[in-house]
Amino acid sequence: AEQKMELQERLKQLKKERNAIILAHYYQRDEIQEVADFRGDSFLLAQKAAQTDAEVIVFCGVHFMGESAKILAPNKTVLIPDERAGCPMADMVNVDGLRKLKAQHPNAKVVTYINSSAEIKAETDICCTSANAVRVIQSVDSDEIIWVPDKNLGHYVQQHTDKKLIIWEGYCNTHDMLTVKDVYEMRTKYPEAEFVVHPECRPEVVAMGDFVGSTTAILEYCKKSDRKQFIVGTEDGTGYQLRLDSPDKEFHFATKFLVCPNMKVNNLKKLVKCLETMKPQIYVPPVVADRARISLERMLQV
Ligand code: 13P
Ligand code: SF4
Repeated sequence: AEQKMELQERLKQLKKERNAIILAHYYQRDEIQEVADFRGDSFLLAQKAAQTDAEVIVFCGVHFMGESAKILAPNKTVLIPDERAGCPMADMVNVDGLRKLKAQHPNAKVVTYINSSAEIKAETDICCTSANAVRVIQSVDSDEIIWVPDKNLGHYVQQHTDKKLIIWEGYCNTHDMLTVKDVYEMRTKYPEAEFVVHPECRPEVVAMGDFVGSTTAILEYCKKSDRKQFIVGTEDGTGYQLRLDSPDKEFHFATKFLVCPNMKVNNLKKLVKCLETMKPQIYVPPVVADRARISLERMLQV
């Protein structure tokens, strides 16, 4: 506890010295969410990065999120506590494969989930997050959409649009772990609870949801609901904000496997160290960033 307080003190000083802002995704460890200037989902944090006056952005999340921040704020320094915090889903799509698919469907527009590399965003018409996916799809002036990389979110979105989605076969290793059996068992154990679920989960699991939505949508839903018990079908880190918003409610994660190991690579110690050393910094080659920025800015305007 003493070490934690020392780290928090040191962080406060460094933030002032460097004119830095700390952004943390809801899936980060509690010790990081506690000291963040802003907590958010991938959409809210991208928006914050685009708007901030700070000179330095410390992005506590996974690599593609830091990249998106750098693309949207090219003149700022973007630090991440540990560059090994990647996203396996983002790595499931490559530029060659996407180009081939585009060649096969020349009339389709490419809608890419923000969980993707800068190179993929550079090949994209418009980005989206789980919070705005349906709205983004509806805004595109084409009836045929190439959707990368999340097949589960793609399946969910397909049910809410008449457009034809050509869906890439990627998925989130963490959300995809949740099974129908897990949810049945939890429902038996907590019959009074509502099941809230992220659309990165498997279609058959999403179909069981009393509420389906992005991280922020789940947080808002649980805050407003009169129910006192919830079975949560998204990453364990959201427990921090859920309990902060509703200390009188009970939140049960649907399995103990809903923990993204990549998100947990970051910790308070590494956060302090990156501001001390100003490393590791995110770099995106300007030729890539300039093209990727168009697809991100289009998303922010929807
Ligand atoms: P959101 O923050 O958009 O809900 O995305 C979930 C996720 O898996 C981020 O890595
Ligand atoms: Fe990637 Fe899933 Fe982890 Fe999000 S929770 S960073 S999508 S692996």
